[in-house]
Amino acid sequence: MSPGTMSLPAVDTNYLQRLSELPTELALRQASPFLAHLVKDPIFIEAEIRPLLEAASGTEIDWYVAKRYQGRDHSYSLQIFVWPPGTETKIHDHSSWGVYCCAVGSVLEERYERLDDGSRLDHADLKKIWQLMWSREDGASSVLPHDGGIHRIGNPGDSVGISVHLYGPRLGEVDGRDYDLSCDYVCDRRED
Ligand SMILES: [Fe+2]
Repeated sequence: MSPGTMSLPAVDTNYLQRLSELPTELALRQASPFLAHLVKDPIFIEAEIRPLLEAASGTEIDWYVAKRYQGRDHSYSLQIFVWPPGTETKIHDHSSWGVYCCAVGSVLEERYERLDDGSRLDHADLKKIWQLMWSREDGASSVLPHDGGIHRIGNPGDSVGISVHLYGPRLGEVDGRDYDLSCDYVCDRRED
């Protein structure tokens, strides 16, 4: 057992490793109920969520990843995000499948599709296709790698949100891509 495993006893990391070895569609089908269940698990809430909520209350900072739990060779990554009021990510995608579920409060997800064919370097023409508020009772949202999951997540509310994200194996060297809608720009994101 690695030191990381011991620091997050409320999560079955052997299960996450097995999940990461499944084909994408099957992994997503299993990851969604897993996360929806995890965010309601009293042991997980007490050990992982409550301390973060207490630490984040009343602070005025940007969103951050408070806890990260990585599998071997980027096989999976379980991350707990804290969303102070008024914070949001850039529009981005991931080089892996991903599933996330809100644990505290609610977060807004905006989803985009790409209209161009990707042939122009650093250029992406995006169109917003939907937005949804997610809270714990709504279950998990999921993204496919690359163009299959271009989105932005934020917290437009006035109380702290916390969400738990699970990403599968990376399909490339980079973590994903960041987009700038104002100038149709896209670039690689090296670090998550
Ligand atoms: Fe994302």
